[in-house]
Amino acid sequence: MKGVGVVPTRRELALIDHPEPVLAGDYQIKVKTLEVGVCGTDREICTFAYGRPPAGDEYLLLGHECLGEVVETGAKVSGLKAGDLVVPSVRRPCPEPTCRPCREGRQDFCRTWDFTERGINQRHGFMTEYFVEEQSYLTPVPASLRELAVMAEPLTIAEKGMTQAWQVQKRLTWEHPNTDGLGRGHGLNAVVLGAGPIGLLGAMKLRLEGFKVFVYSRSPKPNFKADIAESIGAKYISSKEVTPEQLAQKVGNIDLVYEAVGEGHVSFDLMRVLGINGIYIFTGIPAEKGPIPVFADNLMRNITLKNQAIVGTVNASPDSFAEAIHDLGEFQKRWPNAVKALITGRHTIDAHRELLTGRATGIKNVIRFG
Ligand SMILES: NC(=O)c1ccc[n+]([C@@H]2O[C@H](COP(=O)([O-])OP(=O)(O)OC[C@H]3O[C@@H](n4cnc5c(N)ncnc54)[C@H](OP(=O)(O)O)[C@@H]3O)[C@@H](O)[C@H]2O)c1
Ligand SMILES: [Zn+2]
Ligand SMILES: [Zn+2]
Repeated sequence: MKGVGVVPTRRELALIDHPEPVLAGDYQIKVKTLEVGVCGTDREICTFAYGRPPAGDEYLLLGHECLGEVVETGAKVSGLKAGDLVVPSVRRPCPEPTCRPCREGRQDFCRTWDFTERGINQRHGFMTEYFVEEQSYLTPVPASLRELAVMAEPLTIAEKGMTQAWQVQKRLTWEHPNTDGLGRGHGLNAVVLGAGPIGLLGAMKLRLEGFKVFVYSRSPKPNFKADIAESIGAKYISSKEVTPEQLAQKVGNIDLVYEAVGEGHVSFDLMRVLGINGIYIFTGIPAEKGPIPVFADNLMRNITLKNQAIVGTVNASPDSFAEAIHDLGEFQKRWPNAVKALITGRHTIDAHRELLTGRATGIKNVIRFG
């Protein structure tokens, strides 16, 4: 069976001949891979910055953003059958008996950091023809989302981020009654920093929640990312043309920032204009560089005096996967063209080298299997 993987000891990206997996438990499911999204994480693994093969293997199969089709089910699987579409999650629990998050199925909050991740850390990924997975790590997908569900995994980052944001903002007991059906974010302003796949999916989630959304990203208009942002009712503003202070003047109180840029200096510069009682959600995972100057006193005063909160989000619980599938369905109803346009291209496995090591282009590129 063909797969795309890295061999870190030889610093090689290669097409790998990987054995076809077989069911080894009653709750396992064999899945035929349909599509796998390529993201910055995969590209970084191809620079050998991280990415660790499973014990005993020389290679690591890549791919963690996947849509597949069930082909075979273990004896005790219920609720899924051959032909059903599924999306797998990525992170698997650590073995430490006292790690409560892992023992409760919340390895996204693992306390030991001995978790493993499919396609990233000590477990093979999904860039191959078939894989076997426990049912508990698969989320069912309706057939109507066949063209979109490969984006479920990156959307879970926004789902988890917003779940946490609402938990924190429960402190604002006078807000978000959501009795008018306009969404919990109605009347509030959100800024999304960055218009890549993470940012644009986050912007869609925030629009669904009723926020007024401003996408603040690098390239000036006109550009295709700005077009997508504006077609979902967000306003696109270029950071080349508008400073954070000018942005804050245009927006009014910035109630929420969804950071999706992965650059420390830009992110902390925007944090200076986070509003009163605001919440700042970090998604970015920058490569570590040297120290950078930040307006530390200013930030600290604001965080204290303006009751600000900062949370990070890394994917994600089964609930976030289910919410992502639900919300992709909502995006499809509201903005069918915009959500489809997030997928720049669907490619065969032959394009893997260009997609993983060539110049990054478009928004979300997908490798099609089968
Ligand atoms: N938390 C998690 O679990 C998780 C999972 C996956 C990814 N991530 C992280 O999420 C971040 C975003 O990912 P992505 O795939 O959406 O990234 P991406 O495709 O690289 O998009 C980044 C966006 O930020 C914009 N940008 C870059 N520099 C900027 C600047 N100086 N000022 C304003 N905008 C700027 C880019 O603008 P242009 O359009 O002009 O290029 C682009 O729109 C990354 O750090 C990634 O590592 C996190
Ligand atoms: Zn990814
Ligand atoms: Zn753990």
